[in-house]
Amino acid sequence: MPRISIGDVSLQVVIQGEGEPLLLVHGFPLDHSLWKHQIAHFSRSRRVIAPDLRGFGQSDVTPGTVRMEQFADDLACLLTVLGIERPVCLCGLSMGGYIAFAFAQRHRERLRSLVLCDTRAAADAPEARKNRWETAERVLREGPGFLAESMVERLLAPATRRHQPELVAEVQAVIRAAPREGVAAASRGMAERPSVDELLPRIDLPTLVVVGEQDAISPPEEMRELAGKIPAAQFVPLADAGHLAPLEQPAAMNAALDRFLQEQDLEWRT
Ligand code: MLT
Repeated sequence: MPRISIGDVSLQVVIQGEGEPLLLVHGFPLDHSLWKHQIAHFSRSRRVIAPDLRGFGQSDVTPGTVRMEQFADDLACLLTVLGIERPVCLCGLSMGGYIAFAFAQRHRERLRSLVLCDTRAAADAPEARKNRWETAERVLREGPGFLAESMVERLLAPATRRHQPELVAEVQAVIRAAPREGVAAASRGMAERPSVDELLPRIDLPTLVVVGEQDAISPPEEMRELAGKIPAAQFVPLADAGHLAPLEQPAAMNAALDRFLQEQDLEWRT
């Protein structure tokens, strides 16, 4: 897994396969392994790029606050350093979706299409913002262990927690290993993100909106509404999945993404 310098930080990045570029952006407080099934499947026919974001996984950490705009600029810089000039399909989950919105606002010319998984357009309510600040303080004091315990119920569907104990352990291990300053910085950054509700009708890209039907963090009804505001969006709910649909239901996730990407390939050729 190469380490790529993008200026003030180096990112650990999976780069696998050849073809149209597919950029996979993980959520909080995870790393590229969220996409392990998509990397295995799509790298057979595409160039898959799956970084650990600044402050996560094996990538460098910067303390303070890391805003969604900074993550988006990191990704644009990564594409430049990798020499990827063709517009990409950017697929982001949850915080990765917040970053996708910032990327669409700042680097629209680098996008061919968008996939928004289990994410939200609304800014945080004041109470949620306060919780983010408290999480940042607590994670700096104690490390991310408490998040591994408290988040799993909201990240994974009840059936996943019952029938896939190894997946529960895997997700918890990734959270426990997350760098505390990176988690705190992203938590503060998410607290500061604005609503992108106004942006949605102006997204002029083919867009796939995917959500686990049991997502407790970005509920399906909210995501259906989000999809309804984007002119060229398709909405696909996935059964028996929670917030981490790509890990919980990889076959269904890959099928939905495959269909969407193949439509783009056809349009591209005609
Ligand atoms: C994520 O999965 O990235 C987080 O749940 C996002 C959030 O806390 O809003």
